[in-house]
Amino acid sequence: MIYLWTKTFHLLFVIAWMAAVFYLPRILVNLSESRGEAAVQQRLVLMGRRLYGFGHVMFGLVFVLGALLWFGFRVMPAVYPPVTAGSGWMHVKFLLVLLLLGFFIWSGKLLKRAAAGGALPSAKALRWFNELPILLALGAIFLVVGKPF
Ligand code: HEM
Repeated sequence: MIYLWTKTFHLLFVIAWMAAVFYLPRILVNLSESRGEAAVQQRLVLMGRRLYGFGHVMFGLVFVLGALLWFGFRVMPAVYPPVTAGSGWMHVKFLLVLLLLGFFIWSGKLLKRAAAGGALPSAKALRWFNELPILLALGAIFLVVGKPF
């Protein structure tokens, strides 16, 4: 029961974090398209900062619950089944999650650069940049659902 609730909340926070991972680059696209409009830029930077902060809290919760699902069976074998023991998928999933986190932090760096008046990549380049987390999330979800190796 506790295992199922841990997994349920893990997924809820994954959804919330991914909303921030997907939306922060959209704010960057809007920033790139509204150069010279100071009031619009200020509002977008504020929205971006709040979303970035929210994303960090959500990732923290994803991580804590994910770690429980990953290693919990070593400390509380009666509560957590050994879903990851002796298999390799979790390591690759974790690598993809780290890349997703890197993408999120990179988006945050671009936001800070824009807030300081620095130049952003073109809106077109940012739209392509936006597709990266879709591929990473797809891989992570497939690995944990299919546990192929
Ligand atoms: C912070 C790093 C993360 C760790 C350590 C972690 C670890 C885990 C573990 C061990 C499970 C349990 C698998 C099971 O009980 O069968 C799980 C479930 C799941 N995780 Fe994560 N996870 C992390 C982040 C993510 C992210 C970012 C996503 C999505 C992009 C994700 C998607 C899922 C899904 C869809 C499940 C449910 C799979 C199922 O029940 O079939 N996780 N996670």
